[in-house]
Amino acid sequence: EKAKQQSLTDVLARAADFYKAQLRKSPRAVAYLKGRGLTGQIAARFGLGYAPEGWRSLASGFPSYDDPQLVESGLVITPDVEPGEDAKRYDRFRDRVMFPIRNVQGEVIGFGGRVLDKGEPKYLNSPETPVFHKGRELYGLYEARTGLRQRGYALVVEGYMDVVALAQHGFDNAVATLGTACTADHVHKLFRFTESVVFSFDGDAAGRRAAVRALEAALPHATETRTVRFLFLPPEHDPDSYVRDLGAEAFERCVEGAVPLSRQLYTVASEGCDLGTPEGRARMLKQAHPLWSLLPEGLLRRQLLGDLARQGQMAEVELQALWLGEPAAAA
Ligand code: UTP
Ligand code: MN
Ligand code: MN
Ligand code: MN
Ligand code: MN
Repeated sequence: EKAKQQSLTDVLARAADFYKAQLRKSPRAVAYLKGRGLTGQIAARFGLGYAPEGWRSLASGFPSYDDPQLVESGLVITPDVEPGEDAKRYDRFRDRVMFPIRNVQGEVIGFGGRVLDKGEPKYLNSPETPVFHKGRELYGLYEARTGLRQRGYALVVEGYMDVVALAQHGFDNAVATLGTACTADHVHKLFRFTESVVFSFDGDAAGRRAAVRALEAALPHATETRTVRFLFLPPEHDPDSYVRDLGAEAFERCVEGAVPLSRQLYTVASEGCDLGTPEGRARMLKQAHPLWSLLPEGLLRRQLLGDLARQGQMAEVELQALWLGEPAAAA
């Protein structure tokens, strides 16, 4: 099993080298990356590459294109064929900028590929393989290890380009989920490298929905020492466009203005509630309860209970009785 995984990561590492070499040969792909504000230095740091046009480009890097490991690693696709029919294999990634995805040991375990112009899908990811599990990995985590220590917090963003563009502007502490929602697993993994996480979402409606899921993923790991904050960009921006249009200092101010988890919990719980009425405050508390319950035992959990009681204009002992099952203090 271990040996098999090793040979898959070997194949993927060779593919990453192949794509890197192809990038140097493709003025069009280089121009695309330059056009997005990236220098060769940052491209090299993230090992960016280019998958050429054509159905079997990888054959020039892999003499035995029939090697089943090319299929198992997700680089080559074999269409389902009837027995006896010739299985026509072809490259999964064609005419795309390639973002190698590394695990925390630095091994390449998969790729994300972006179309150069228009085209669908905009991003194509490696499929799940024995070495690649989308729901667990964070793009950029390996590259961010030092930055996380130096800056003291992690930025969690939505896209590959956000991670790379932020690094280009000095924020070498950004990671992205791989086109999936952020999970408690992701947050758990991040807290092995830092004590502080800042989620940065696109300012659009999708970004706001993602923030609710991130809140749920973060709550089980949030304590008085492991802090979580939420940063919302203007609706027309993502971190890449923001830092490019407005600069690193402006983004830095966004990070400083990020709202703490407690406030985000309150905002989510108050959604659709008129807090000027007892009905609205009761509803807010009802919506807050399942979120608050996700917090681990400890000071932050107790502190937030008191805070929510005040926001809901309810005696703290009453809320304790309801949420902790503790008897209200004798009158
Ligand atoms: P976005 O569309 O916001 O990506 O999707 P982006 O990084 O801002 O794209 P560009 O390059 O600046 O235009 C965010 C993330 O969602 C996943 C990718 O991981 C992407 O980085 N995604 C998006 C996909 O997996 N497939 C898609 O077709 C689109
Ligand atoms: Mn596995
Ligand atoms: Mn978006
Ligand atoms: Mn985006
Ligand atoms: Mn973008």
